Amino acid sequence: MEKLGVKYLGLILRSPLIVSSSRLTSTLGYLKEAEDCGAGAVVLKSLFEEQINKHIHTLSTSQSYPEADDYISNYIKSHSVDEYLGLIRKAKEILSIPVIPSINCFSSEGWTGFAKNIADAGADAIEINVFFLPLDRKKSSADSEKVYYDLIEKLKKTVKIPIAIKLGFRFSNILHLIDQFYMRKVEGVVMFNRFYEPDIDIDKMDIVPASIFSTEKERRLVIRWIGMASAQDIKIDISASTGVHSGADAIRYLLAGADSVQVCSVLYDKGIPFLKNITKQIETWMDTKGYKSIAEFRGKLNYRNYQDPVIFERTQFMKYFSGEDYS
Ligand SMILES: Cc1cc2nc3c(=O)[nH]c(=O)nc-3n(C[C@H](O)[C@H](O)[C@H](O)COP(=O)(O)O)c2cc1C
Repeated sequence: MEKLGVKYLGLILRSPLIVSSSRLTSTLGYLKEAEDCGAGAVVLKSLFEEQINKHIHTLSTSQSYPEADDYISNYIKSHSVDEYLGLIRKAKEILSIPVIPSINCFSSEGWTGFAKNIADAGADAIEINVFFLPLDRKKSSADSEKVYYDLIEKLKKTVKIPIAIKLGFRFSNILHLIDQFYMRKVEGVVMFNRFYEPDIDIDKMDIVPASIFSTEKERRLVIRWIGMASAQDIKIDISASTGVHSGADAIRYLLAGADSVQVCSVLYDKGIPFLKNITKQIETWMDTKGYKSIAEFRGKLNYRNYQDPVIFERTQFMKYFSGEDYS
């Protein structure tokens, strides 16, 4: 395996750096540029459950409202499912790195059978981004988690290619959830997705979207949960996502135990060629530390080193806030 080589979802990647799902992975031109700049794999821009269900003529509008229906219809007109399958086929023709299509969904209804078309188009794996808001107060967190289990079970019956689930971080017990994915033979988890977040504009008196781009400050929450998940005694691959803005950030996630590291916002800011800088920073750091492969240091700082991570975090918290170290 090459110096930066890693295994993710059973695929051999020449680098742990993956360009994550976004407009930057929506055209052949961008995908080729990502490969040329050193990406280990690409996750294509997501296809939405609504698009697929419309495609298979079962779109339900019963829970929707007219403005949303108009938006969805217009979106579907200009983003066809056939075009998406075409993009997968062409990407597989021209790229030598793995191509991972993505589906953004909120239920397991209707669309899951379509995953076979994606696999048949040549996809190396599939990433599923589940986005629903638990707004029904009569439903428990177990009900929300069941949405994941149902769709995984359906997908596993439909496709043989590896599946990664892209997660949000707001669950009562993420480690239990990941364990349940593992029991259902899911190959990987992406930690974490960044959801749309509303803000309020007090001049316009309106709800507006908060920034869709991350900052490097967001990585701390990711480090904790990757450090915990990778220390578990289960073999499910972890792809880090959110807050990677430099080679140092990528190294932090690898040290915490990630198998691969996804990059998005920083490439919007600095361009896809910035992947080369991130790669160079990782290589230089490895040389300084004397590491010849990623495997030599991956997970070195996960929570396995601490016998009881909860006690570790609690004592750190007590030290931090009692001010002993800062007086
Ligand atoms: C403009 C934009 C479009 C995105 N589109 C998608 C998408 O289609 N599917 C998806 O799973 N994530 C999407 N994301 C989320 C990214 O893949 C990524 O998980 C998130 O931005 C966090 O990574 P970052 O900190 O490197 O930006 C998008 C992000 C941005 C900024």
